Amino acid sequence: MKSKYTDFQNITQEEYFNLIAELMAVRKRADVPLAYVRTYGCQQNVADSERIKGMLYESGFSFTENVEEADFILFNTCAVREHAEDRVFGNVGALKNIKRKHPSVMIALCGCMMEQEHVAQRIHDSFPFVSLVFGTNCLHEFPRLLYNTLLYGKRTFLRGNTDENVYEGIPIKRDGNFKGFLPIMYGCDNFCSYCIVPYVRGREKSRRPEVVIEEAREMIASGYKDICLLGQNVNSYGKGLEDKPNFSQLLKEIDKIEGDYWLRFMTSHPKDCTKELIDTIAESKHISHHLHLPFQSGSNRILEKMNRRYTREKYLDIIKYAKERIPDLSLTSDIIVGFPGETYEDFQQTLELIREVEFTSLFTFIYSRRKGTPAADMPDVATDEEKSKWFQELLKVQEEIAAKRCADMVGSVQKVLVEEKSSNKEGILNGRTSGNIIVEFAADESIIGTFQNIKITKARNWILNGELVKE
Ligand code: 5AD
Ligand code: SF4
Repeated sequence: MKSKYTDFQNITQEEYFNLIAELMAVRKRADVPLAYVRTYGCQQNVADSERIKGMLYESGFSFTENVEEADFILFNTCAVREHAEDRVFGNVGALKNIKRKHPSVMIALCGCMMEQEHVAQRIHDSFPFVSLVFGTNCLHEFPRLLYNTLLYGKRTFLRGNTDENVYEGIPIKRDGNFKGFLPIMYGCDNFCSYCIVPYVRGREKSRRPEVVIEEAREMIASGYKDICLLGQNVNSYGKGLEDKPNFSQLLKEIDKIEGDYWLRFMTSHPKDCTKELIDTIAESKHISHHLHLPFQSGSNRILEKMNRRYTREKYLDIIKYAKERIPDLSLTSDIIVGFPGETYEDFQQTLELIREVEFTSLFTFIYSRRKGTPAADMPDVATDEEKSKWFQELLKVQEEIAAKRCADMVGSVQKVLVEEKSSNKEGILNGRTSGNIIVEFAADESIIGTFQNIKITKARNWILNGELVKE
């Protein structure tokens, strides 16, 4: 897909790529200019980085994992929790020495953190060696920004782009060649009271269905076996589009594409998760039997304060229906422990819900105060020590559930996508089931990137061990 985007000077993206390549030709330290791109945070950030890498690649860059040898260093940052932000500040600080040693290196920061005014200001004032800062909604502007910063050597800051356009045709360089993300929408309109995302990623915007379907078709044709559709709340896909296609319709259209592949999506919001969606999964050929449905808290009192707009009962209803329609469904969720005002009784209701649903795995977070969100001003009752204790209790309960779920699979044969060599066991490969459970088995690495049937022989906590079933 060629970009049709031209900027206000009527320069196309392709022209910018060439201009950047010319400037880098005299600036590079090795045979080719090298870029180091580090991504913090969620899958949406990974997908954004893949587009940034696409633009860098088209501008003649190769990529390095060694920050010391890079000519261009970019951190794509995450603002969801304070801890993530602290790490970024620490790691940006460490770049000072690199800039001192190699003054020609250009350091850039982008992503959700940079959309917060106080963060951009701190970068501006305390990190003068950072030359380029741009927010999540300015990705399409990156070639122009990079070119001008290289050319004029002046620091560039751009954030707060709130226009409603979705810019298509940005080149992509995906990290994997058989598993990939496909963003279907950007931003979020939900304003959960703890969450910074709607403030830093802006209002919800959907990509046109025909563009998404075409991108899925291209991915499948080039060998992708696992495609994950991305959005902060995929269930409200299409709301702002003219003909209002809904998410189930989009899934059905993609599912029609021939081939051996799995289709996943994240994230679903329980308030918009319909029976139609569950039926679509149940009746599809390619959609994996995995639903990531974050419930955040099992207490109605806390859910209301979180502005989640569903109750524990409604959540359990949809789970019940989903389990009936898809008996081998694997469920995962996100949970926040220690939301302002949460008591041990509220937390107990979260534990009860976990025991009732029996999730395959959970992403668990201790609440982190985010400046500018409504929850940041809510009074708290529990201490940090109490919250840590609850958190440990939660992990223990979930460990037992995951172990039981995995043990129940021993003896079954699972279709697995073979992903990589085990990092610490010689001759062992790791794969994943359609339900996203890791399976370890002995096999030759030549089958990485293919589907295989594995007989499950053992379960160790939440990891399965198995043997390759020879055809
Ligand atoms: N504190 C802790 N966890 C948070 N999340 C979002 N905002 C916060 C916060 N302020 C979690 C939610 C969300 C996941 C992506 O991150 O559980 O689903
Ligand atoms: Fe944040 Fe809620 Fe939007 Fe998810 S749905 S990104 S938790 S505001």
